Amino acid sequence: MYLTKEEERILKGEEGYVKQKAMEIIVALGDIYGADRLIPISSAQIAGVSYTSLGDEGIEWLESLRDCHVAVSAMLNPASIDLENWRDMGVSPEYASKQLRIINAYKRLGVKPICSCTPYLVGVIPRFGEHIAWSESSAVCYANSVLGARTNREGGPSALASAIIGKTSNYGYHLVENRKATVLIDVSVKLETLSDYSTLGYWVGEMIGSGVPYFRGLNLRRSEELKALGAGLGTTGSIAMYHVEGVTPEYAKALTDQVERLNFTDRELRGIYNKHFKPVGGSVELVAIGCPHMSLVELEEVAKLLKNRRVRRGHKLWLFTSIAVKRLAERCDILDIIRRAGGEVYTDCCIALAPLKSLGVRNIAVDSAKAAFYTRLLTRVNVSFGNLKDCIGSITEV
Ligand code: F3S
Repeated sequence: MYLTKEEERILKGEEGYVKQKAMEIIVALGDIYGADRLIPISSAQIAGVSYTSLGDEGIEWLESLRDCHVAVSAMLNPASIDLENWRDMGVSPEYASKQLRIINAYKRLGVKPICSCTPYLVGVIPRFGEHIAWSESSAVCYANSVLGARTNREGGPSALASAIIGKTSNYGYHLVENRKATVLIDVSVKLETLSDYSTLGYWVGEMIGSGVPYFRGLNLRRSEELKALGAGLGTTGSIAMYHVEGVTPEYAKALTDQVERLNFTDRELRGIYNKHFKPVGGSVELVAIGCPHMSLVELEEVAKLLKNRRVRRGHKLWLFTSIAVKRLAERCDILDIIRRAGGEVYTDCCIALAPLKSLGVRNIAVDSAKAAFYTRLLTRVNVSFGNLKDCIGSITEV
């Protein structure tokens, strides 16, 4: 791979140990994937934030990165707890102090403590064709597919390395030829809810594993549906990009005659709901919505569903979003409606990473196939999956 003189100097350690290690990571990935050179990026979104996944060794490693600052705008993936209201979640001070040490270590590197998997909802919006290095799979899908920005699915260390250097290696989805459709998905069932869209993504990820699906027959009504679709795709496969006919910016030149074809019908939709997950039922103690983090429109929808209803005693309704969207919800009185009905809006964190078992929670319900998959896998609690209305209905009363 070609490196400029300045890049060579960094690789030799002439700009310090941390930048040298960062450059080594980027160059190693470039060599593995056949990149020709490094390219500048405009932003990085870094995974590897939760204390649950990083542990004490991760904290020590992050705190050892001294005398270094990120070169481009960089923000974080969700953590395990609400950084301000962790006490309300029932999190112990010991756990919270470890999580906050991680955030502070990133802040010392110049990374913004925007802990969200929907940075594009809070003003981090790369332009069409802009190169970025983002980590979280649903955010990567959204950036590539809906915004037309260019990113691979970075791991936490490679996104951090790219943030420090301000560059990434030129391979994968940074190249136009890798952004073409590889499979055509004909959707002949009407998708009604965000959970339906996440189910479609989940099924496609399971069927193809990798590649670039091209969707035909979708009757989209709002951008939240694209957010849910991308989250599902990233769950069961390594998919980082998709096209929707007539909707996403690169669809027109994406399809060739040779691609494989799959049909998604009512049978496939029901199959995922019924075979893979437990339906939402009476045993639910906690409903968690916001995977990926909720938009203001979604919070408003929940507030409408809670009209004249209350969360039943002994049950919890947790809604997850970014700090910016929560502030807007507060200003629009949406937060007040949700709280009066017994719900709570948490920021900065992700249900799949929350220390649920230590909080005494055993049965939760979610409206996202991604949340269902990862929460079951990572927290080992019982998880049911259904649409938003059924989830809210399971723990509320008139
Ligand atoms: Fe976001 Fe966590 Fe879901 S990072 S996409 S809320 S699994």
